[in-house]
Amino acid sequence: MNILFAASEAFPFIKTGGLGDVVHSLPIALNQLGDDVRLVLPAYRDVLASVDGLKELGFWDLPGADVTHRVRILQAHHEGLTDYLYLIDVPSLFDRAGNPYVHSDGFNWPDNAERFTVFSRAVAQMAKGIPGTDWHPDVVHCHDWQTGLVPAFLSMAHPRPKTVFTIHNLAYDGHFSRDDFTRLALPPEWWSPDYVEFYGGFSMLKAGMVFADQVTTVSPTYAREICTPEYGYRFEGVLQHLGDKLSGILNGIDLEIWNPETDDHLVQNYSVENSKQRQPWVKAKLANKNELLTQIRLTRADVPVKAPLLGFIGRLVEQKGVDLITDMLAELFRTTDAVMIILGSGDSLYEAELTKLADKYPARLHVHIGYSEYLAHRIEAGCDLFLMPSRFEPCGLNQMYSLRYGTPPVVNFTGGLADTVTDATAMALKDKTANGFVFNDVHADALLSAIKRALTIYKKPKQWQQLCETAMQQKLGWEASANKYQALYQK
Ligand code: ADP
Ligand code: GLC
Repeated sequence: MNILFAASEAFPFIKTGGLGDVVHSLPIALNQLGDDVRLVLPAYRDVLASVDGLKELGFWDLPGADVTHRVRILQAHHEGLTDYLYLIDVPSLFDRAGNPYVHSDGFNWPDNAERFTVFSRAVAQMAKGIPGTDWHPDVVHCHDWQTGLVPAFLSMAHPRPKTVFTIHNLAYDGHFSRDDFTRLALPPEWWSPDYVEFYGGFSMLKAGMVFADQVTTVSPTYAREICTPEYGYRFEGVLQHLGDKLSGILNGIDLEIWNPETDDHLVQNYSVENSKQRQPWVKAKLANKNELLTQIRLTRADVPVKAPLLGFIGRLVEQKGVDLITDMLAELFRTTDAVMIILGSGDSLYEAELTKLADKYPARLHVHIGYSEYLAHRIEAGCDLFLMPSRFEPCGLNQMYSLRYGTPPVVNFTGGLADTVTDATAMALKDKTANGFVFNDVHADALLSAIKRALTIYKKPKQWQQLCETAMQQKLGWEASANKYQALYQK
């Protein structure tokens, strides 16, 4: 089938989180299964700078907020990505450096409503025909609120391709004002609780849910959770109403980019399957740990390399349970010999608190505020345990990367974490299904006691190695889930 993928970010051009990874790796998996998937992104400055073979396909005049924009449709090329990449070029809206959604001060771009409405109008237009090609999508697959208006605009077209809308995170709903709604010249009949109106404003995420032919989210457990008030962010009614139009399909990971056997960022590569022919993975992992400890200068006499190294990577936001980590660190350091590395950026309060803790515990805690793909790979490989105490987690990719790198994750029982991590209970250890540690209460004490459970097993090398090997052998690629998307497109 022909599938047009529309999203606001994609690795390796521009990525703020897991959405970028999925939009990169799922099309590759679908193409391998025989679909023709083409991706369309906004032509941000960083994207334009990283592609080649730019070809101008045509222009459209599309309404923005009280103005009409000249929208240029570009075709671009990038090694290793889907064969076709289209860019929606509107310099006044997208020719900006850095993060696609926020200003360098951390504030949302004030014209986000206009930016992603114009993008969505352009995608809907492309779905009906792309200048200079006779390619037509059978399905338009849209991701998150930035593309939520695509199914809405397409609902007015006849004939039209079918639409799939994937919710990656309900906490970001693209909520804008009545004034924006009017200025953007959206159809007045959409201003209704049955359509896009939502608590006094309008929500682009809701538009995607209401107008798409099928709605998915990124794990089966999250699909169930979001139909409840606890996780539904006030959308639970809308979501319940979708019935079997809503389903959860677990994300996969890119097994080439996240492969400890070939990863260039590591000082020694390893894999569980090859451990008989090559250096055993345990030794190689230890070499990566040593290197990481040296790099972050945590190798002092009082931190022997046998001290367990804990890692965290992620956006420093409430969702990720950063406060659970900061609340238990003093007690962790007081009662165990563990050391920890944290990589992330986000809320300035968390950034400040973590920096303060790193100053207080220079021999035990290293905090790197910022974004670093390189360090992320090194942390996945060099740590003994990976912490992911998220309050909610639609899917989560980092726990899967850590499984693949033999670094058991410690997670809260929610969303995709619940779907990918099997707690090391006595039974699960015995039948070799355990691959990590799960706790059930969003509280620092619960996290700490799960870590302590892990550290007890860490001291029993045979049991620990079995746990890591189960983790490394887990099937985490896209194949199964790409098949499920194909079945959904067929439907
Ligand atoms: P989310 O999408 O909610 O941020 P995921 O676990 O699905 O969470 O994906 C996060 C992705 O972003 C992973 O690829 C992770 O490695 C990456 N990431 C997050 N923060 C950083 C950072 N500071 N440096 C490098 N990579 C990061
Ligand atoms: C979101 C979610 C995360 C998920 C990612 C990719 O950002 O927070 O859980 O893994 O999207 O689907």
